[in-house]
Amino acid sequence: MTSAPSPIENLLTENRTFDPPEQFLERNPVIHCADMETYKALYERSMNDPEGFWAEQASKSHWFEPWTKVLEWNCPDAKWFVGGKTNMCFNCVDRQVEDGLGDQYAILWEGEPETGSPEGHEVRRITYGALKRDVSRFANALKSLGVKRGDVVTLYMGMVPELAIAMLACARIGAAHSVIFGGFAASAIVDRVQDAQSKVIVTCDGAWRRGSVVPLKANVDEACTRLPGVEHVVVLKRCGNDVQWSEGRDQWWHTLIHGQSDDCACEHMDSEDLLFLLYTSGSTGKPKGIRHTTGGYMVYTATTARYTFNLEPGQRQIFFCTADIGWITGHSYTVYGILPNRVPTVMYEGAPAWPAEDRFWDMVERHRVTHFYTAPTAVRAFMKWGEEYPRSHDLRSLQVLGTVGEPINPEAWIWYHETIGNECCPIVDTMWQTETGGHIITPLPGCTPTVPGSCTLPFFGIDAAVVNEQGEELPANAGGLLVIRKPWPGMLRGIHNDRERYIDTYWSKVPGMYLAGDGARRDERGYFWIMGRIDDVINIGGHRLGTMEVESALVSHDAVVEAAVVGMPHEIKGTGLAAFVTLGPDCGDANHDELRESLRDHVAKEIGAIAKPDMIRFTNALPKTRSGKIMRRLLRDIAAGKEVTQDTTTLEDFSLLAKLRESDE
Ligand code: WTA
Repeated sequence: MTSAPSPIENLLTENRTFDPPEQFLERNPVIHCADMETYKALYERSMNDPEGFWAEQASKSHWFEPWTKVLEWNCPDAKWFVGGKTNMCFNCVDRQVEDGLGDQYAILWEGEPETGSPEGHEVRRITYGALKRDVSRFANALKSLGVKRGDVVTLYMGMVPELAIAMLACARIGAAHSVIFGGFAASAIVDRVQDAQSKVIVTCDGAWRRGSVVPLKANVDEACTRLPGVEHVVVLKRCGNDVQWSEGRDQWWHTLIHGQSDDCACEHMDSEDLLFLLYTSGSTGKPKGIRHTTGGYMVYTATTARYTFNLEPGQRQIFFCTADIGWITGHSYTVYGILPNRVPTVMYEGAPAWPAEDRFWDMVERHRVTHFYTAPTAVRAFMKWGEEYPRSHDLRSLQVLGTVGEPINPEAWIWYHETIGNECCPIVDTMWQTETGGHIITPLPGCTPTVPGSCTLPFFGIDAAVVNEQGEELPANAGGLLVIRKPWPGMLRGIHNDRERYIDTYWSKVPGMYLAGDGARRDERGYFWIMGRIDDVINIGGHRLGTMEVESALVSHDAVVEAAVVGMPHEIKGTGLAAFVTLGPDCGDANHDELRESLRDHVAKEIGAIAKPDMIRFTNALPKTRSGKIMRRLLRDIAAGKEVTQDTTTLEDFSLLAKLRESDE
């Protein structure tokens, strides 16, 4: 059923159930959902009366004009809070200032420390008041460049506070943003800017990572040679590295905001106006621009953040999500879901193991972080680095631990629970996707008993099920397709410029239901277990990559004729990338080690370092079925070093299997 190898295979089996830790209950006077009876009652209400439930949640946000109808559903098109007028930036920033909280911290940012100078932490603490001023200035600056309501502004920046400021500034004036992860290369920028039709790109001269400069501006320059439609590039000076300058097109951020007014009214946005695009990998080579709109996404991220992390203002909470804002996790749970909940959000620049492997624990201790949200791949890396790093810090401020991006293997879960959480922090294993806007299946802290490796139960309003291709719900423990049968406010509203792909990808396999693209099963108590992607998307350490994207990058190398990319088990990443490559006739004598390096560098240049294959094998031909389809399952088995048990009689070249196994690696 599932195509990706399960990273939780062959590892510790852990059947224990962990009840909400006593200490958590004692330390938290307010628990939004304090027991399973409350969960069940609220869940049932959200199923029986979704409109009533979501209207209640939406009324916690500020609206300039109320909605006239909670939901209009014409499958696959949802409209939430129809007719309502609101502004995301107003809810994240201005509202707090208006309520007299202007001097409270909104963002705690920490720059990448310099090696050898542990005291040299560059920290910026930004209050709601300061944020309002900075966002308004930049919003006015964008207007001065001609950015209007409805335009899409591309943001390709490092993890600096100005990235959040730029996002909020766009939201303020009704422009949508499209954030591109700073680890992506020039060609990724080209595809995304073209599809979004952005005329303005905001970037930095460079981004710090492990003491060196990632040349963001140079990547934008390279991309712009193929982007005649880009009129303005705004450059934030961060690293002071040399940059090329295109007069008339390029402007420094600091020059541009100079003299801009601190005053900029929030546009009254329709609930269904586009808030942002975020590109994500699908089964074909072209990334999909996932569309999220204003009202539904706003209500959904604020509600999930509040319940899943038990956020409550006035409880001295500090929220630290380690994801880069270039991914949906950073959008929803560094910025949009956290700020309206009035809990300071931590942003950091650079790498987790720089200048030392205790970077996060040092930050947790110094900032008294209460909520820590990361990916299982990071937890596995912490385990490998060793206990001494967390042990050398006071982590007693921590109250809730979260994971996201891939299933967490029980070993990593137990280590997280014991070594980081000191057995007194609930772990929320949050299952969701770029497309879902926020958590769809997750435990609630202080409420849901957890079992390592299971993301447990659906969030309120999420009618999740495991079904067969006819849409029939499967019995306990049978593997099937994960679907959602009712619309929810945070759901994507489409793929930018590609209606057909939207319908094909999510709504056609099981008509009338949203297909997540994951295989799953539900156990006897109704808990969900995610079994991996069912399409050609590979989840590398919590980041989605389409095999086709990597294959096209490989084939664009001069030496390569054909390439097939599959997932393989990887100790830290969970799943790594294995590439099988056939070479052109001129490469017979090429040094394979050098060629491998050259291919890896080429992929990094075409897509970004995250797409570099972990293993490259050269072969004379790829195994194909008679109809010419690459036998990916066979390649996966070979990559995993497994005995090949499946029927291979459809192989076109029987000798090939042997050849593949002999081929050098
Ligand atoms: C996977 C990340 C198991 C899943 C927020 C999904 C998970 C894809 C979990 C979305 C989890 C995410 N347990 N699998 N807790 N969370 N996934 O769009 O395959 O980058 O479809 O969103 O990650 O990845 P995306």
